[in-house]
Amino acid sequence: MNILILGSGGREHALAWAVMQNPKCDRLIVAPGNAGMAQIAECAMLDIEDGGAVAAFAQENTIDFVIVGPEAPLAAGVADRLREAGIKVFGPSAEAAKLEASKSFTKEICDAAHAPTAAYGHFTDAEAAKAYIREQGAPIVVKADGLAAGKGVIVAMDVETALDAIDDMFGGAFGGAGAEVVIEEFMDGEEASYFILCDGKTALPIGTAQDHKREGDGDTGLNTGGMGAYSPAPVLTDDIAARAMREIVQPTVDEMAKRGTPYQGVLYAGFMIKDGQARLVEYNVRFGDPECQVLMMRLGAQALDLMLACAEERLHEAQVNWADDHAMTVVMAANGYPGSYEKGSVINGLDALPEDSKNMVFHAGTTEVDGKITASGGRVLNVTARGDSLQEARDRAYAMIEGINWPEGFNRSDIGWRAL
Ligand code: AMP
Ligand code: GLY
Repeated sequence: MNILILGSGGREHALAWAVMQNPKCDRLIVAPGNAGMAQIAECAMLDIEDGGAVAAFAQENTIDFVIVGPEAPLAAGVADRLREAGIKVFGPSAEAAKLEASKSFTKEICDAAHAPTAAYGHFTDAEAAKAYIREQGAPIVVKADGLAAGKGVIVAMDVETALDAIDDMFGGAFGGAGAEVVIEEFMDGEEASYFILCDGKTALPIGTAQDHKREGDGDTGLNTGGMGAYSPAPVLTDDIAARAMREIVQPTVDEMAKRGTPYQGVLYAGFMIKDGQARLVEYNVRFGDPECQVLMMRLGAQALDLMLACAEERLHEAQVNWADDHAMTVVMAANGYPGSYEKGSVINGLDALPEDSKNMVFHAGTTEVDGKITASGGRVLNVTARGDSLQEARDRAYAMIEGINWPEGFNRSDIGWRAL
């Protein structure tokens, strides 16, 4: 079959890598792709948030299956346009993508589904929001309702910080995303992510992971999109995961179906775990980046079969073949990230690295210039490895980093510290 993957990051490179290993894939196109994906697939220039353009491109190229990587095209209705055009797609409708695109919508679904999550208030008026904060006290969490590229959440340790966040959000710091705010009870505990395929009815877990959001070792410094991840996440034990499926995930899937907006795609559930129980922090309607890289490393070619079963509403007959393995990915970012950074530096040493089912460098922000791989983003490479233990996966990943010659980049040296 002919497959189109939308996106240009490490997540999409990992998806492309897994899909290419499956003999069902005859032709793979990625749009827009990056220098790493260009080594294994055709790259096409396409406005991936324009559903009409994506559907027309898919028809012209006799695409049988489209996998949508990032959330923006989903929130923009690209999956809807593809389904209307009769093209199979992995990813939820715009209505179902509200589970990520609107935090107040997610809270409403949790209420209806009786899913354990933080207590909250929802406001469109700054004074009412501030009164609620003063009444609740700190610590407290202030969230812009809409998509804010991971920056719309302020975990306030004191009331002043929370009140300032309200001024920022209603003042337009997050554009339209902050016109509504959700204010939540602060939950403490350990965070972990659970990835579940849903076909509208059936929910099938495909793995757990933990990422590292802070830029520096010891979880210090600024928040980033994620500096590394590993799977499985030991804190999300089988018992806690099974209970979370019963109490949170399946009731969410059932509630979405009941409303006539069934959820189809991967549901990325962020949990806060304490005293043996998970509570929902957030949903995302796509794979995590870089969590997808470790999941794909562990799933390999079967990922395509599972995503197809999801799109064809046959998850009830699908099965995940688990290996008792571990994977880790370490992000190499441009010096300065998540602040300003330079583009265009040359990365050497990649050609000499092993590329097999246990070692892969997924490209996140790279461009090929005159035959050389250059950095063109903040997060640039995802050095990913698999092993029988997390330690083995870690050692392989860091050994690959030793072979990469890129003075303009940096990486954390302690990915996986909680689990090791
Ligand atoms: P979100 O975009 O909702 O995942 O929030 C980003 C991050 O903020 C999460 O990964 C948590 O670390 C933190 N966070 C969000 N909500 C809460 C909460 N209610 N209590 C504690 N931390 C939170
Ligand atoms: N790594 C966090 C995310 O993809 O949202």
